[in-house]
Amino acid sequence: MMRKTALAAALCGALGMLPVQAATMVDGAAIADETRGDNWLSYGRTYSEQRYSPLNQISADNAAGLKLDWFLDLNAHKSLLATPLVIDGVMYFTGSYSVVMAVDLKTRKTLWTFDPKVIEAAGDRLRVMWDTNRGVAYWKNKVYVATADGRLIAIDAKTGTEVWSTMTINPDKAYFVNGAPRAFKDKIIIGNGGTEWGALRGYVTAYDAETGKQAWRFWTVPGNPAYGFEDKAMEMAAKTWNGKWWEHGGGGTVWNGLTYDPEFNRIYIGTGNGSPWNQRLRSPGGGDNLFLCSIVALDADTGEYQWHYQTVPGETWDYNSNMDMVLADLTIDQKPVKALMHAPKNGFFYVIDRATGKLVSAEKLLPGVNWATHVDMKTGRPVEAEGARYEDGEELINPSAFGVHNWHAMSYNPGTGLTYIPVMDVPALFSDKGFTPGKWRSPEFQFDPGVDLLRDDMPLTIDASALMAWDPVKQKKVWEVKQPGVWNPGTLTTAGNLVFQGRADGVLLAYQADTGDKLWEFPTGVGLSAPPITYTVDGKQYLSILTGWGGAGTSMAGSITAQHGWAYRLHPRRLLTFSLDGRASLPPAPPPMQAKAIVKDDFQVDAMLAEQGSKLFLKNCVTCHGGGAVAGGYAPDLRASPIPLYLDGLREVTVKGVRVNAGMPRFQELTDADLVAIQHYIRRQANKTVEAKATP
Ligand code: HEC
Repeated sequence: MMRKTALAAALCGALGMLPVQAATMVDGAAIADETRGDNWLSYGRTYSEQRYSPLNQISADNAAGLKLDWFLDLNAHKSLLATPLVIDGVMYFTGSYSVVMAVDLKTRKTLWTFDPKVIEAAGDRLRVMWDTNRGVAYWKNKVYVATADGRLIAIDAKTGTEVWSTMTINPDKAYFVNGAPRAFKDKIIIGNGGTEWGALRGYVTAYDAETGKQAWRFWTVPGNPAYGFEDKAMEMAAKTWNGKWWEHGGGGTVWNGLTYDPEFNRIYIGTGNGSPWNQRLRSPGGGDNLFLCSIVALDADTGEYQWHYQTVPGETWDYNSNMDMVLADLTIDQKPVKALMHAPKNGFFYVIDRATGKLVSAEKLLPGVNWATHVDMKTGRPVEAEGARYEDGEELINPSAFGVHNWHAMSYNPGTGLTYIPVMDVPALFSDKGFTPGKWRSPEFQFDPGVDLLRDDMPLTIDASALMAWDPVKQKKVWEVKQPGVWNPGTLTTAGNLVFQGRADGVLLAYQADTGDKLWEFPTGVGLSAPPITYTVDGKQYLSILTGWGGAGTSMAGSITAQHGWAYRLHPRRLLTFSLDGRASLPPAPPPMQAKAIVKDDFQVDAMLAEQGSKLFLKNCVTCHGGGAVAGGYAPDLRASPIPLYLDGLREVTVKGVRVNAGMPRFQELTDADLVAIQHYIRRQANKTVEAKATP
């Protein structure tokens, strides 16, 4: 890169022209370069996934003076949670339904929009997926997006036109994709998710960046042994399963964590929970169930298994290991360690020696975590607490299926030596009442993880989350800032001794990285779910973030996320850009608004019908309309909607599918009797809310 730029400058000089910055060749060397801060070339900025920028024009000394520089309205979108990429003054990002946009950061104009028409392509898959997408990959001259309906598409970065498209999933199964692909060695890799809606078996696939042809695929859990095993790793893994697990898929989908390691020529994949969650249904008699909830190291050229570390043997709580894996050189006990850092849902922070795959250390991030007491350093295994497997009825377990840490990216600052993690302290009741091993069948395009949950609203817990600065060497908290709500987004850290993070209540903040002192805040007018990024244009440092409220927490978590009042589609979605001398301001936005549940006095709730309706709601509606029918903002709050009051209206929307284009799926199989039961459930929940408010 240096050489090319110098040559270009020399040529320009000889020809008497102004020097022009040579275009960046986005390849392995460029993405691995930690020292260049002008661009943001990959999801976690560089291959290390540190989300650490070496830029320091904006620093702890002046961050208090950050101002809005410009903004772009994106109201056609709903959930905006992607990490944008920046290449030579052009920003590429995904919005709702995997739409990709390219924006010129100098003219601040949209260069192109690529719409993969996801709703049309999705069909019934619309029931199991959200509109969310975490971002694109870039390699040489193409942008790569993985669409919710399962395609991987290569787009010409200049023109925004499709170069190739390939289907990455079996269209008959409930897989969907919302992760960001990664690019390395002329390959693009992507996984998928969806285990709560079907009998799914996890895998990742690497494709040729130029042609879209499959290079390799690695399955994360074994299939039916009768058909033979794909590789030795699957043969080994099969020994850790029981019963006819393959009939339930097994799970282990890779819906997020992907880290390429140029030093060892490896891909680390973070694998998912079981399908179903409940191990007694999935693998009766137990077993570790490899490679669920694991970090698996694969040869980047062939996809061959190299080592694994399992964070939750025999998982049964949806404690997946899909969270990002961050690479860094640490010094631990005076010895250099090629570290992989990982804070999965289960509430522990892991340091793994990635040369060998051996555990270096693991400690609880939060004292409230109660499913395991500690990780035994001799065996590398968690020591589970008594009763944690909810075998004798209902148990209050921490964390809930939302995890202590979810996909919201953590960052690592080599200057402070700290990781910055959004954490949640939310327990949940787990119960397998009514689920009989051998009798239970995996769902097909319906929500059923084999555990009884989310039938009712989640309790509102105050101070249930925090931004935590964690020392990975000492395995200790250094500072912590309490946060509102629970679904707080990912972090960015910089050489300016700064940490940036948005919050669920819509405020974007800057903290001093070594102390946690708050330096700056900016209310954006809508709940934040995306992590900020930083880059330069013409040598000047900017900070950008997409504002939009999205992800499983915002759609399913009931009052915990509904408390912020980001009512469905009411608040503006935007791309915001800040600098030290910005002069823009936002137009006034509507204030947060709480849904007003409708109470219809002449509607007599039938308890039996409401109970029936609750089951139908859980299977078909909860993922978007919220636990306990309390909507967090992803879809309208049905307690406050007049439509469910009238059978005809409810039928139009659900059975006829008149709102499919707006993301409301069609449920052609629901009978009038089903709809009546759903009506009774919604009214029961509406009355409950109003009664709860009336009682002081
Ligand atoms: C994948 C997400 C998703 C699922 C699952 C889902 N919905 Fe919706 N629903 C939406 C969205 C988004 C809208 C808003 C569409 C619009 O903007 O018109 C909506 C709108 C509605 C409306 C209209 C509300 C109003 O006031 O405009 C009703 C009624 C409704 N849904 C009922 C249901 C029922 C009943 C189920 C389960 C059988 C269900 N939905 C499942 C996403 C979903």
